[in-house]
Amino acid sequence: MHHFIYRDKNMYCEDVPVQNIAEEVGTPFYLYSYATLNRHFLIFDEAFNGLTRLVCYSAKANTNQAILKLFESLGGGLDIVSGGELYRGLHAGFSPDRIVYSGVGKRIDEIDYALETGILMFNVESIEELRLIDERAGLLNRRAPIAIRVNPDVDPKTHPYISTGLEKNKFGIDAQTAIEGYKIANELQNIEVVGIDCHIGSQITEAEPFNEALGNLKDLIHKLEKMGIGIEYLNMGGGLGITYDDESPPQPHEYAKPIVDSLKNSKLQLILEPGRVIVGNAGVLITKVLFRKSGKVKEFVITDAGMNDLMRPTLYKAFHDIKPVVKNENRQIVADVVGPICESSDFLAVDRRMPDVERGDLLAVMSVGAYGFTMSSNYNSRPKAAEVMVKGDQFHVIKTRQSYKDLVEGESIPPFFDV
Ligand code: LLP
Repeated sequence: MHHFIYRDKNMYCEDVPVQNIAEEVGTPFYLYSYATLNRHFLIFDEAFNGLTRLVCYSAKANTNQAILKLFESLGGGLDIVSGGELYRGLHAGFSPDRIVYSGVGKRIDEIDYALETGILMFNVESIEELRLIDERAGLLNRRAPIAIRVNPDVDPKTHPYISTGLEKNKFGIDAQTAIEGYKIANELQNIEVVGIDCHIGSQITEAEPFNEALGNLKDLIHKLEKMGIGIEYLNMGGGLGITYDDESPPQPHEYAKPIVDSLKNSKLQLILEPGRVIVGNAGVLITKVLFRKSGKVKEFVITDAGMNDLMRPTLYKAFHDIKPVVKNENRQIVADVVGPICESSDFLAVDRRMPDVERGDLLAVMSVGAYGFTMSSNYNSRPKAAEVMVKGDQFHVIKTRQSYKDLVEGESIPPFFDV
C-alpha cells in the first residue's frame, strides 16, 4: 500500500497534486510519501512483536537525512556499509549503539571511525578483516563487538546480481570457516563475540529461503554454544521483496511469523536489516516528456530522467510501472521510455504498453524509493535530481537539485599546466 493515488484524473501524493510540486520544483525529482514510510516501518517492526528486536534500516536503499531521521525517531537502528553511511547516520541522530556495520571491503579509516564511534557491532566478512579489526581496536584501546556474517549457501531465487548468500558470492564466510572464525575471535584480545549474521539477497519474494537460512544459523549457534561461545544477537539481514509488477512477496507478518515462532522461547535478540520493503514503494520519480519520436521499428518516449537518475532498469532490466501524472484518454502505444543519456542502455522501460503522451506531459516512475536516488550519478554531467517529501497537504524539498556549479566542485587545474 502506498499513497500515490488518483483523484479524478490527477495523481496525488497524499493530499498534494503531484503536478503542483512539479511546477514549483521542476523535473526530474524523487517524491516520497511520509505516511507510507512511517507505516511501512511500523508494520515491519510490529510484525516482530513478542521478540526483543532492533530493526536496523538498511541505509543503502535511501540515505536522505529526512528519511534516516524519520526511522531514527521511530526507534529504528541503522545498517551501514561504509564510513559515509556511518557519517550520514550519526548526522541524522542515530545513537552509535543502534548501528551495525556490514561490507566485504572495510578500509582501515572506516574501521577506526566505527571503533571510535562505538557502534553496536561489526558484521565481519573475512578472517583477515577480523584480525584487522582486532589490531585496530588494540591500537585505539577499544573492544570491538563483532558478529560473523555467515554465508548460509541458500538460493534466494532472485536476480543473480542481487543474490548474496550463495557459495559463489563474495559475501560472508561459509559455515565451516565461520566456526574457525569464531574460535579465532574468541581468542583475540580486543574482540568481543556478540552475534551471528546473514543476508542472503535482495528482492526475495518467497518465504522459504529465509526459513532455510534461519535454520542454518540456529544450527551454527547450537554448535558454537557447545564450544562455549555464546551468541547474544541473531541478525537475519534484509532482503524481503516488494511488488513492482505482479510479484506477491510474503507480507511482513508472514515473513516474521516463522522467525517469531522459532525465537520466542530463546534469549537471542533479533536484528533485521530491511531496506527495500520499507522505502521501495514509498517513492516515485517524476519526469517530463521532452519529445515523442517514431522510429522505423520503435516508438520512443524521451524523458528528462534517465539511467543517471534511475539505474535499475539498465542494470537489472528491472520493471518499474510508469503512470501518467494526469490521466488522458489517448490511444495505447507500445514504446520505449528512454532518457537523454548517450547510451542505448539508457531506458526506463522497453516495449511498454502505455497511453500515448506528448511533449510536456508528466510521468511517474513507480516504486523507486529504494536504490533509486542512492544509485544515481552525474553521468553526462546531469545534475542529480531534487528529492521531495509530502506529509498530508504539505511538501518539502529534502534535497535540492544539484546546480551546474556543483558539477565542477572540487575540480582544479594543475599549476604545471602553465596556462
Ligand atoms: N543488509 C545487507 C548486508 C545488504 O547487503 C542489503 C542489501 C540489505 C541489508 C538490504 O536489503 P533489502 O532489504 O533492501 O533487500 N541495488 C539493488 C539491491 C542491492 C541490495 C544490496 N544489499 C537493487 O536495486 O535491486
